Amino acid sequence: MGGMSQLISPTLSSPASPACPFQRRRRSQASAPRRPRATRPAVISCESGPSERVDRREVLLGLGGMCAAGGLGVGRRGDALALPIQAPNLSECQTAGTSSGNNCCPPYSATILDYKFTPTGKLRVRRPAHKVDEAYLAKYKKAVELMKALPADDPRSFAQQANVHCAYCDGAYDQVGFPDLELQVHNSWLFFPFHRFYLHFHERILGKLIGDDSFALPFWNWDAPAGMTIPQIFTDPSSSLYDPLRDPAHQPPEVLDMDLGDAAPTPQRQIDLNLSIMYRQMRRGGSMENSPHGPVHVWVGDPRQPNGENMGIFYSAGRDPIFYSHHANVDRMWQVWKKLNPRNVDFTDQDWLDSSFLFYDEDARLVRVKVRDCLDPEMLGFTYQKVDLPWLSKRATPRATPAGESSSTSSSPPDFPLTLSSLASITLKRPKVSRPQADKDKQEETLVVDGIEFDPTNCVKFDVYVDDTDAGEVKPDDSEFAGSFFNVPHGRGNKKKGKMEAMTTTLRLGITDLLEDLKLDDDDEILVTLIPRRGKGKVKIGGVRIELSS
Ligand code: C2O
Repeated sequence: MGGMSQLISPTLSSPASPACPFQRRRRSQASAPRRPRATRPAVISCESGPSERVDRREVLLGLGGMCAAGGLGVGRRGDALALPIQAPNLSECQTAGTSSGNNCCPPYSATILDYKFTPTGKLRVRRPAHKVDEAYLAKYKKAVELMKALPADDPRSFAQQANVHCAYCDGAYDQVGFPDLELQVHNSWLFFPFHRFYLHFHERILGKLIGDDSFALPFWNWDAPAGMTIPQIFTDPSSSLYDPLRDPAHQPPEVLDMDLGDAAPTPQRQIDLNLSIMYRQMRRGGSMENSPHGPVHVWVGDPRQPNGENMGIFYSAGRDPIFYSHHANVDRMWQVWKKLNPRNVDFTDQDWLDSSFLFYDEDARLVRVKVRDCLDPEMLGFTYQKVDLPWLSKRATPRATPAGESSSTSSSPPDFPLTLSSLASITLKRPKVSRPQADKDKQEETLVVDGIEFDPTNCVKFDVYVDDTDAGEVKPDDSEFAGSFFNVPHGRGNKKKGKMEAMTTTLRLGITDLLEDLKLDDDDEILVTLIPRRGKGKVKIGGVRIELSS
């Protein structure tokens, strides 16, 4: 599957619900000129035939997501234009969402500079957190200590750094020109570039505080077995890198659970499952933002807190120093992904390239950055130490029924929209069967779960399986496991309360390889099963279909 979409995956799209204004209008607005889609498999019909342009964007949004402001400004009556997201207007920052009504607005500055990265000749080299040496650790701890000691109203202070995340994800800003729409960098194609810039400035500030312009953040190497616990550097209670608000049951040597499954497998089994998840997300067409990004947040957060603070909910996630290491690895995956396959290329839409954000730099100057200026880490003076990719070979293997026998047993199909409170199966027609390889290289067969509607303050997870009547038993390392939807809880702007009761989004999962592995490529129909894992009964599904997307 080409394009960044593969990395992002849950994508915006459902036009159905008024609950998610950007997304819905965005779809309808951008669909002019609307074209009928004669080829869409009509097993379940979803409203609105998007134009090809929108289709492609949605795929691209696979990189990030859900109900996103994604890159479009949209007008009140749904007649909006496709526009790059503009940097927010700080003077109109408002109390962000979440029950506690956080004020995470940054200090105001009327002067905004257009950011121009000045190379120093030295690259900052980000290293795996579990492998750093004492000298590095001492510097890192010192830098965070100094950052925490800055006055609270200094935009470079640790508290203000954490607020940056809160402001961009909990509805503190409107989209400029569209007072109805909040700016949301998650679940959208802004996910990767926003967090890259965010870490870049955070890293520069830390380096400046210790007078080291080659200082680099460590990355939490959770994609490798040796990195699949909370890195030790974050666990010393006397260190500035410690955060007491974490799940006490998930301290080392507890192995990270990327699936957040119910069962407690042995550590080795968990490691294998994680590697399979990495393979699927990076190579087969899953979504990094969905998983493992989301589960890692919730797994680290403290279940004794009302909202899984700190890491388990977006407004407070940046208060845990581990956040920046977690995101360094998410960012690294963007880079790794681009090198895996020549088809893995960044979006070229101007609306994406010209989207911009505001950050304070290491000299406390407010700067405006553009997505186009962050596509290669070296454009921002940093790089990642090369480490092994042990998941590269962890392709899943089929578990269940052999060749083409299973999928024809459709009992009574569920009615959509469907409240997902227990397992639901449906037989879907495929748009084309037995496509030649050249065709497959161009277009990914994609399973689309549309109109996923939920309250974003809930943690929601459901898994999607293909071709297994006993899907409840399927594990992430079985080919039948197509992928998961995951929502990390987050709030909404107060102003929009009421309008934003729910968020609506789409999940897209590449299944070309999966169908080959299961020897189903010649079948006209496949059986798809959805199983709710978290937030049972709190998520609605608009429909499920298969399409070919480029
Ligand atoms: Cu901005 Cu990990 O989320």
